[in-house]
Amino acid sequence: MENKQIAITEFGGVNTLAIQTNSVPTPKSGEIVVKVAFSGINPIDVKTRAGLGWAAAQNKDNLPWVPGYDISGQVFSCGDGVSRFSNGDNVAGFIGFPLVGGGYSQYVCVPENDLCAVPDAVTLEAAAALPLAGQTAAQAINKAQVKEGDRVLILAGAGGVGHLAVQIAVAAKAEVFTTCSESNLDYMATLGAHAINYHFAPASERVSEVDVLIDLVGGDTALDALKCLNDEARIVTVPTLSAELICDKAKLLGFQATGMLVEPAPEQLETMLYMVSVGILKTEIQTTFPMKEVQAAHLQVETGHTRGKVLLKMQEG
Ligand SMILES: NC(=O)c1ccc[n+]([C@@H]2O[C@H](COP(=O)([O-])OP(=O)(O)OC[C@H]3O[C@@H](n4cnc5c(N)ncnc54)[C@H](OP(=O)(O)O)[C@@H]3O)[C@@H](O)[C@H]2O)c1
Repeated sequence: MENKQIAITEFGGVNTLAIQTNSVPTPKSGEIVVKVAFSGINPIDVKTRAGLGWAAAQNKDNLPWVPGYDISGQVFSCGDGVSRFSNGDNVAGFIGFPLVGGGYSQYVCVPENDLCAVPDAVTLEAAAALPLAGQTAAQAINKAQVKEGDRVLILAGAGGVGHLAVQIAVAAKAEVFTTCSESNLDYMATLGAHAINYHFAPASERVSEVDVLIDLVGGDTALDALKCLNDEARIVTVPTLSAELICDKAKLLGFQATGMLVEPAPEQLETMLYMVSVGILKTEIQTTFPMKEVQAAHLQVETGHTRGKVLLKMQEG
């Protein structure tokens, strides 16, 4: 049986993404082969394909390389000692982060402990939308110690991380402000946030007395948002490329500021899957592309204006 995978053949534009065919892996002890239904695309995949950032630097001698950290699908086969899952179970995982990847595959072998069961009430599409983005959102909100009554400003609330961060902050009873384009104003309001159209005016002209800044944009946009903050404000800046610059500036101004690198934590994914199953967390999926349209999927993420997530459907037919 064949296992189609999408590989980065060299660093560059979307035409460097190609389908390669391998055999289905055999699981070793403690491992599971997942028949991947959906694979999530994250901006890091696109940056790595373009040769940018540390994941590209680490993989430069390792091409062709199969990217992808978010998967959902069914257990296909189990190695010795696997105890929590059986063939056919629906699972999801945040896998191979950061250097191994492998999620853009029809079949992928992963340690049992990296997987979570997907509740019956959760679609495999929703499950593939959650792993990296959901855990980034939860870990950013935790790092910033968001608590009841905080005024929280989330830059880019409509994106993959943002739409989940907004909901988690609202659930923590914070008063949430977020920036987005006009087309997302209503969507952000339905999630419980005060939405600010950043094309109309910068955040600093629209909101003040902010206790927590969750920055999902970086650069000048984040520097502008420092003008919205209270004296004791906490800042978590998520894009790695500008984190040092923003933390340095923020600290000069007397704020607490930190960057972050998301860490896979299966129990956190399990909690989010539960929240989706009972309807208190909603995933937004802009488009699901067939795997053979991966180039279009990367172009969509590259626009920087995806609402929620972009997925790949990994099985044909
Ligand atoms: N450090 C880590 O561990 C880590 C983990 C995950 C993600 N990240 C990084 O965090 C960033 C966000 O990730 P993501 O997955 O959420 O990206 P994404 O889904 O591609 O974000 C797209 C969203 O960004 C919004 N946006 C674009 N420019 C904006 C601006 N100037 N102001 C406000 N919103 C703006 C768009 O909203 P509109 O269409 O409404 O304009 C769109 O909804 C990326 O840089 C990613 O690489 C880092």
